[in-house]
Amino acid sequence: MLLWDRGMLWGFLLLLSGAVGQRVIFPGNVTVNYPGPVCAVKGSTVTLHCTFTPHKSFIKDGREYPLRIIKVVWCKNHEICQGSTPSVYDSESDTNNPRYQYLGDKKGNCTLQIRDIRREDNATFRFRMETNHSAGHHTVTSGVKVTVIDDPQMTIISSRNQSLIREGQTETLLCISSCSFHQLEVTWFRDDHALSESGPALQLGPLTAEDSGNYTCGLKTNSKTRSRPYELRLEAAEEGIKLNYLTTVRLVL
Ligand SMILES: *[C@@H]1O[C@H](CO)[C@@H](O)[C@H](O)[C@H]1NC(C)=O
Ligand SMILES: *[C@@H]1O[C@H](CO)[C@@H](O)[C@H](O)[C@H]1NC(C)=O
Ligand SMILES: *[C@@H]1O[C@H](CO)[C@@H](O)[C@H](O)[C@H]1NC(C)=O
Ligand SMILES: *[C@@H]1O[C@H](CO)[C@@H](O)[C@H](O)[C@H]1NC(C)=O
Ligand SMILES: *[C@@H]1O[C@H](CO)[C@@H](O)[C@H](O)[C@H]1NC(C)=O
Ligand SMILES: *[C@@H]1O[C@H](CO)[C@@H](O)[C@H](O)[C@H]1NC(C)=O
Repeated sequence: MLLWDRGMLWGFLLLLSGAVGQRVIFPGNVTVNYPGPVCAVKGSTVTLHCTFTPHKSFIKDGREYPLRIIKVVWCKNHEICQGSTPSVYDSESDTNNPRYQYLGDKKGNCTLQIRDIRREDNATFRFRMETNHSAGHHTVTSGVKVTVIDDPQMTIISSRNQSLIREGQTETLLCISSCSFHQLEVTWFRDDHALSESGPALQLGPLTAEDSGNYTCGLKTNSKTRSRPYELRLEAAEEGIKLNYLTTVRLVL
């Protein structure tokens, strides 16, 4: 039970009015540019590219006080990353988990790299900065959502919408997944032979008979992931008739 005497109450009210009178103003805004949602395959390495602008000073009673960042923190699944919250990285700690490597600094780069992604990394990661005055502490709560999956389903889609194409034309095959994997490398195969291309888009053309075959794609880091085959068929025209090769593109289901 709390007993308030007159003096305590007045003291409390004075404290309140004092706090209101000495409002702290910041000349600039804190920003953290988190990457968009990231999808990560178990066992892979993911780099969360991130930049920030901290509070450089604050103004109180008409005076400007400079601020300096003294600590940066990344945590997961906590709104503020504060106090006793377990962090995945704390610049002032020497017992950080080596799976989480801070590639950033205390000035404007908050890039975090996560190696050997595990199921427990299926979480929202947030960055917190602390300055040499508590007025400048800040966490931008939006964070980065990391979704961890074991074996993503890969699919090949074609840039073309017609089943018949001619020799000499071009064709782009896209390797897509329910998970966006912009940071993962794709391996392409034609009839189970690996191709040298490693981007999610495979540019073919000008098409010749040699391009025909069954195409599949998968993730470089996980040989178990493989799309269904996509058949690119070029049908040779008869010699006498001066027709180009006809290319039939169809998805083999
Ligand atoms: C801070 O953000 C507010 C609203 O988002 C904007 O109106 C203001 O101009 C920004 N201030 C600076 C210094 O960028
Ligand atoms: C914080 O750091 C800035 C820059 O080094 C310095 O000018 C300022 O006096 C420091 N503030 C406090 C409260 O220590
Ligand atoms: C932040 O640091 C990472 C790792 O050193 C680097 O790859 C990235 O380019 C840097 N970003 C910026 C905006 O400087
Ligand atoms: C990952 O987290 C999301 C919510 O953010 C949840 O719906 C999903 O089931 C989780 N996946 C795993 C494998 O834990
Ligand atoms: C593909 O073809 C279908 C039917 O032939 C048509 O409805 C659709 O709009 C076409 N899409 C594109 C991207 O051309
Ligand atoms: C693709 O594979 C199927 C089934 O193995 C085969 O019948 C077909 O001839 C192949 N297509 C091409 C263009 O090699």
